Amino acid sequence: MRTQVAIIGAGPAGLLLGALLGKAGIGNVIVERSSAAHVLSRIRAGVLEQGTVDLLRSVGCATRLDAEGLIHEGIDLAFDDSLHRVDLKQHAGGRVVTVYGQTEVTRDLMDARSASGHSTIYEAADVTLHGIDASPYVAFRSDRVDVRLDCDFIAGCDGFHGVSRQSLPAAALRVFERVYPFGWLGLMADLPPVNDELIYARHSRGFALCSMRSPARSRYYVQVDASEHAEDWSDDQFWDELRRRLPEATAARVTTGPSIEKSVAALRSFVAEPMRFGQLFLCGDAAHIVPPTGAKGLNLAASDVHYLFDALREFYEEKSAAGLDAYSTRALARVWKAERFSWWMTSILHRFPDQGEFGERLQLSELDYLTHSEAAMSALAENYVGLPF
Ligand code: APR
Ligand code: PHB
Repeated sequence: MRTQVAIIGAGPAGLLLGALLGKAGIGNVIVERSSAAHVLSRIRAGVLEQGTVDLLRSVGCATRLDAEGLIHEGIDLAFDDSLHRVDLKQHAGGRVVTVYGQTEVTRDLMDARSASGHSTIYEAADVTLHGIDASPYVAFRSDRVDVRLDCDFIAGCDGFHGVSRQSLPAAALRVFERVYPFGWLGLMADLPPVNDELIYARHSRGFALCSMRSPARSRYYVQVDASEHAEDWSDDQFWDELRRRLPEATAARVTTGPSIEKSVAALRSFVAEPMRFGQLFLCGDAAHIVPPTGAKGLNLAASDVHYLFDALREFYEEKSAAGLDAYSTRALARVWKAERFSWWMTSILHRFPDQGEFGERLQLSELDYLTHSEAAMSALAENYVGLPF
């Protein structure tokens, strides 16, 4: 086979890039190792920056988002037994976020992809990358047939455990990483959320988050030790622990009941540099991971795709490689700002094993300052709604 851009991975990054390239008339083929059903079975977060929403709209994938997405103009911080609202709209120049599950984003992009007729190969086995420094091609097996896909460029959108980043020569890659000594135990339940905006709670027993997917489906998280397993927690134990970490008045309003999903996610900050090697360009989780505290994972994948699509369009339409040559620097500049924000949100809201009483006081004073300083609230708000591309 031959195409212009071979995309590895049909997660949100790969599908969004494919949609943008397809709309611009640039040939692309997506090669995904799992089935579409498996890709859609992953439970992920769901807070979209305006930039991500605009990109989805630009490829005609905002119809359901507009109908079912929840516009949030603020978030609540909970500490010292009370809620403190941060008005995002007021402090970020009118910009807001949209709560809409990543699974729904992926489903909308997949539906648009199959309607577009552009080629997507699911359940591709043994995907390998070749000639990434000059004339690239991707090899894989599909329905027991060996396939060679020649292309001009490869977009590595295959996530943290994918083959793309591993295809870079070790000497060419620099990795920056911080692994946190705790995880998030998440619970999904078809119950009305406790609040109409997200609550990020700091408590001496650990962090908690009250989120949602819709007015009828709630998503909650509590900080747990990294070694914990979801199956060791009954629903009742989860609800008890969650309510202990919320202000009393808020805890009393939590509607509890049976969970439909429970899972533990590890927390990690990770960046691989550069995000380009020869004809291979890394996007999304293939190049970076953020702890979920800042809700930046999906949005960073979208901003990488924004920069890469711009550069590829410039290459094919204006015969200029300037954007491609600047891709890694441009994408990493925004990646590191989101890494800083996500690390900062994690460090002020979680209980660290070695923080001690002095550390606790620092967290509380930072939250006190944050909720009483217009300047500090603006800094949080502009990062939370998304810094400009
Ligand atoms: N060959 C082909 N496809 C692969 C391979 C491989 N060797 N390895 C992984 N994949 C596929 C995965 O099956 C997955 O569908 O690549 C896709 C990567 O998708 P994601 O992990 O969702 O990554 P990305 O598209 O960058 O989205 C980032 O996902 O994890 C969240 O918080 C993160 O929200 C962020 C978003
Ligand atoms: C979620 O809804 O799953 C969610 C929301 C905000 C976060 C992380 C996760 O920061």
